[in-house]
Amino acid sequence: MIEEILKLKKEKSAIILAHNYQIPEIQDIADFVGDSLELARKASEIKDAKIIVFCGVKFMAETAKILSPEKKVLLPDLDAGCPLADMANYEEVLKIKEKYPDAWVVSYVNTNADVKSITDVCCTSANADKVVKNIPAKKIIFLPDKNLCWYVKQKVPEKDIICWEGYCFVHRLFTIEDVKKVKEIYPDAELIVHPECDPEVQMMADGIYSTSGMLKRAKESKSKRFIIGTEEGLLHRLKKENPDKEFYSLGSAKICPNMKKITIEKLYFSLKEEKYEIILPDDIIRKAKISLERMLEFI
Ligand code: 13P
Ligand code: SF4
Repeated sequence: MIEEILKLKKEKSAIILAHNYQIPEIQDIADFVGDSLELARKASEIKDAKIIVFCGVKFMAETAKILSPEKKVLLPDLDAGCPLADMANYEEVLKIKEKYPDAWVVSYVNTNADVKSITDVCCTSANADKVVKNIPAKKIIFLPDKNLCWYVKQKVPEKDIICWEGYCFVHRLFTIEDVKKVKEIYPDAELIVHPECDPEVQMMADGIYSTSGMLKRAKESKSKRFIIGTEEGLLHRLKKENPDKEFYSLGSAKICPNMKKITIEKLYFSLKEEKYEIILPDDIIRKAKISLERMLEFI
């Protein structure tokens, strides 16, 4: 199947993008693996492909379509959604915008395309604090992740930020008990966590990073042992790129079942039958593109 995928990819002039949480086999066959920011950048830069097969969750494939609307964007499993993205709905966001007309709406990329279309500027976990710092307004509505919002508030205290009440159920599984236990077992290890973790966990960590931020930190740090507070898929790249270092999940491995819906078999059928195509209304693409491009300008 892997051979067939490589053949089809060439025949159809397709490129495979994969998120850092994908299963190892998908990461290894992809043309590019990255965090949400890197994948959005890549999608906006691709010139010489007709098809983008996106191995990740739906909001990521939508982002690729918004930034590269002339390409056919495929998601191998349409059920690969993100419950965090679904926690901010279009009507509710409109309501809060009406309540605070002077505020800027900052949406984490983990939002659906319609919400991005009524957003002033998007951000990812790699740039949320920088984006908020550069906004020419004091009042901010930040959605949908309350933990990333808490992180931004610590970094940018001069802004008046209203946090949406959403959360990622995967990252909320990391607990301070996990941290206490692991610090006892590996007192010399460096603990790095994702800003979607609860504030108590973030406060006990040595560093807070996006998934690719963790890869960079692991490479640059003098530490030999790391405890990782994010979805377990990242450990594949961490181990592959740093064979001389040790990596452990914080507590038991935490799995995002949506990210894991993409398999080699589904990727094969996606390329072969050109399914499932991401189709978005033109006006949603046009408006959502403004908020994504503004993010790329603000950082
Ligand atoms: P990153 O942008 O850090 O890769 O995070 C995406 C995500 O969905 C985290 O749960
Ligand atoms: Fe969404 Fe959480 Fe899965 Fe990331 S890990 S895709 S935020 S459910």
